[in-house]
Amino acid sequence: GVHAKRGVSCADCHMPYQSEGGQKFTNHQIGSPLSNVENSCFVCHREKVDALVSDVYERQAKIKEGSSKLQTQIAMAHIEAKKAWELGATEAQMKTIQTGIRHAQWRWDYSVASHGAAFHAPLETSRIISSGMAIIQEARIELTRLLASLGFNEPVPMPDFTSKDAVQTYIGLDIPAERAAKADFLQQVVPQWLKDGKARESKMGSKAVSSSK
Ligand code: HEC
Ligand code: HEC
Repeated sequence: GVHAKRGVSCADCHMPYQSEGGQKFTNHQIGSPLSNVENSCFVCHREKVDALVSDVYERQAKIKEGSSKLQTQIAMAHIEAKKAWELGATEAQMKTIQTGIRHAQWRWDYSVASHGAAFHAPLETSRIISSGMAIIQEARIELTRLLASLGFNEPVPMPDFTSKDAVQTYIGLDIPAERAAKADFLQQVVPQWLKDGKARESKMGSKAVSSSK
């Protein structure tokens, strides 16, 4: 991205300098630079806060548009591949299709799981997403041909991808059970000193919370 090319470091944006009592230090509460545009961006930029923030959101929205489409195509390919296996497709018939699904999936993961990529390097990220899209469409064309050769000539039924509930039900995810398991896990892994600290903090009320910021 343009910032890396100009030698701007992660810390320039995510750990901006601040002063307190005559001491200058970098902020170690790493988070979104957008909550502190004055210190994070104004060192180098002179635009209005609104303009910089909307520029970031605009980039993220544009990338999301592409990554959401790619994600749906990958899910459809997985469902079509399952159908092909059920109809007796062989490993040899599935080989290039599986490779295609993996290669598209990696590109989706790389663009989405790195989180900041839509802002850090929007051009590179959209290039990766488009290449994932080309790969998955190729795999789906191959799947349609394979399904036809196995005697299946209609579209494979799909869940409603616009509804999270519908998709979770489709894959058999029991959300209440997952939530309970998570609560149980957190109960086990959160150390006692942290629980004690939190309890103390909430007893001390808002003063402690605001001074810890
Ligand atoms: C030019 C400023 C800038 C630089 C340099 C920068 N970032 Fe970011 N980063 C941002 C902005 C802006 C966001 C989006 C924040 C938001 O959406 O609230 C972001 C988002 C992120 C996120 C996602 C956070 C989330 O909750 O989704 C991560 C992780 C991240 N950056 C890590 C890094 C790392 C690691 C580096 C260095 C390799 C880096 N950033 C360099 C400005 C920068
Ligand atoms: C250490 C300096 C530095 C910091 C800090 C910095 N930038 Fe930049 N930014 C640059 C430079 C240099 C460029 C490239 C300018 C050019 O080529 O004209 C740039 C370019 C940009 C561009 C235009 C990118 C493009 O593709 O044309 C945007 C948007 C931007 N910065 C947003 C931000 C935001 C938001 C922050 C704070 C989170 C931030 N910058 C923090 C130095 C910085």
